[in-house]
Amino acid sequence: MADSNGLLAGKTGVISGALDPDSIAWALAEAAHREGARFVLTNAPVARRFGRLDELAEATGGSPVVYADATADDELEDLFAQATDALGGPLDFVVHSIGMGMNVRKGRAYEELKYEWYQKSLDISAISLHRMVRAALAKDALADGGSVLAMSYIGAQRVFSEYSEMGDAKALLESIVRSFGYRLGRRGIRINAVSQSPTKTTAGGGIQGFDAMFDFAEKVAPLGNADQASCADYCVTLLSDYTRMVTMQTLYHDGGFSAMGISDALIEGMYGDVLGGDDA
Ligand code: NAI
Repeated sequence: MADSNGLLAGKTGVISGALDPDSIAWALAEAAHREGARFVLTNAPVARRFGRLDELAEATGGSPVVYADATADDELEDLFAQATDALGGPLDFVVHSIGMGMNVRKGRAYEELKYEWYQKSLDISAISLHRMVRAALAKDALADGGSVLAMSYIGAQRVFSEYSEMGDAKALLESIVRSFGYRLGRRGIRINAVSQSPTKTTAGGGIQGFDAMFDFAEKVAPLGNADQASCADYCVTLLSDYTRMVTMQTLYHDGGFSAMGISDALIEGMYGDVLGGDDA
C-alpha cells in the first residue's frame, strides 16, 4: 500500500459497496482513510447478514455504517441525511461501487434474458448511480467542488462473451456519468467512472468464465491486471483536488489492456514459443 500523502485531509464522503476484504470499495475505504478522509460506509441491508462492514468501520477510525438499498429512493435519501448529520455538512465525495447481474449469476444466456432480472440488474448496477446522485442532491448532501465516482468495466465498450447483460449495465452507467456530469458541472461537481481490470471479488466471481477473463487480461495488459489496492490508490486521486477539472470520463485503470490488441504472451499461451524473438 502507498504511504499517506494526506490527499483527502478534511474531506468527507459516502463509500458504498464494501462487502468483504476482497471488495474494491474495501480497499478504497482503507486508502481514503489513510489519506485523511472521514466517511460513512453503506451497503444493501442484506449485506448486514453476510458482509463484514463493521470490521471495516472499526479499521477506518469508527466510520458510521448506514445500510441502504441502492434501488430504494427513500433509503438513499435517509442515507444522505444521516451522512451529512454524522459528518457535519455536505459531502466532498460519493463512491458508487455496486453491481450485480442476475441473469449472469443464474447462468441465463444473453439470447434468453429474463427481463425481470435484466431490469433488476440494470437498476442495481447502473440506475442506482442516478438514484444516489439524485438523493444526494435532494438532501443538499453534495458540496460544491465535490467528486462522484463509479466503478465500470471495459465490457461497456466491447463484448466479453460471458459478461452478457452486465455489458449493457456498464454502458448505461457510463452514459449516466456523462449525462449527470453535464448537470453537476454547473456546481463544480465532477463525476467519473473508473474502468477497472478483472478483479477477484464476490461480484467478479459471480461471472461464469471469470478466471478466463482474468487470465486473458493478464496476458494482454503490459502491466498485468490492476488489483484492488492499486485501484484504490488511483481512485483516491480522483476524489482529491488534484483532479478537479476531470469530469464525465471513463478512465481506464487496467494495466494498459484497453490500448492493446495482441500481445506476445497471448500468442505464446495459445501456440507455445513460436515467436522466438526477445521482444517484450
Ligand atoms: P463486490 O461484490 O465486493 O461489490 C459489489 C457490491 O454491490 C457488494 O458490496 C454488494 O453488497 C453491493 N450491492 C449489490 N446490490 C446492492 C443494492 N441493491 N444496494 C446496495 N449495494 C448493493 O464486488 P466488486 O468487484 O468490488 O464490485 C464493485 C464494483 O466494481 C461493481 O460496480 C463492479 O461491477 C465493478 N467492477 C468489478 C470488476 C471485477 O472484476 N470484480 C471489474 C470492473 C468493475
